Amino acid sequence: MDVINSAQDMLEKGMSAVKGAVSGVAVENQPFMKGFIRLCSDGWLQGWHERNGGNLTYRMTEAEVEACRPFFYDTPSSWVNMGVQADNLRGAYFATTGSGRYMRNVQLDPAYNVGIVQINDAGDSWRIVWGLRDGGKPTSEFPSHFMNHSVRVAATDGACRIIYHAHPDNVIVLTKVMPLDARTITRALWKAMTECIVVFPMGVGVVEWMVPGGADIARATSELMKTYDAAIWAQHGLFVSGPDFDTTFGLMHTIEKAAKIHCQALMVNNGSDEFMNTIEDDGLRAIAHDFNLTINEAFLD
Ligand code: 13P
Ligand code: ZN
Repeated sequence: MDVINSAQDMLEKGMSAVKGAVSGVAVENQPFMKGFIRLCSDGWLQGWHERNGGNLTYRMTEAEVEACRPFFYDTPSSWVNMGVQADNLRGAYFATTGSGRYMRNVQLDPAYNVGIVQINDAGDSWRIVWGLRDGGKPTSEFPSHFMNHSVRVAATDGACRIIYHAHPDNVIVLTKVMPLDARTITRALWKAMTECIVVFPMGVGVVEWMVPGGADIARATSELMKTYDAAIWAQHGLFVSGPDFDTTFGLMHTIEKAAKIHCQALMVNNGSDEFMNTIEDDGLRAIAHDFNLTINEAFLD
């Protein structure tokens, strides 16, 4: 079996090299894939991706699909129904991390740890057209990524391309000790660090604890992503969205840093928020005014 697998591997690598020679830049070296790989490594270095924790999807442009098409499998996988559907993603192509595969390994072997999937004309199923070698599948959170893409594409006039899920420590800590409502948690984060309200002016949604990896959590999260570009999963982690890798990673980084500052300030103050300096609501309003931000007014007193 191992002999057959490694022979198949050699054949696929050989085919890919031949295709590359006649067809240009390999998928691994396409600029979007380099950005994808860098984000996976950066998230690992931040400590947000224990084991196979976390996942990433990127909605490809038509030009990127055409540049990668010469490297697609001659025979794609079978179609797999997602249990969710989106009209505005019919026929789309996504790069996705693999289920059970590790963010820290993505840079070592992208074609094993990452794949490209095509969505069918009905907008309810995927099939693998590149990568995820040796029987890989898209992340188990693909239904959540897919539904989040759908609502963020609609909310941003097509600008949103990335959905990123991680397990950052301090965000998870907050969900163990704070009421699980978006207003309370957003206010704590906005007041932790002055520029938070500039980075996420609509705030952060909160999904109560749910079983991960299915259509129910996908629907609950995407409902919140109509308003927010980030949503916390209680006792689990954080989903963020964005138009490019820098903005998306930056949003994850900023929310987690604000959560860390909030937690550490409470700890050095013996768990109490008495006598703590804070940014008043009028201060937040003044930032919104000077930075010309549309903020979530319902979250201010
Ligand atoms: P996957 O390995 O299927 O991507 O799952 C990791 C995870 O974080 C689930 O929420
Ligand atoms: Zn997770």
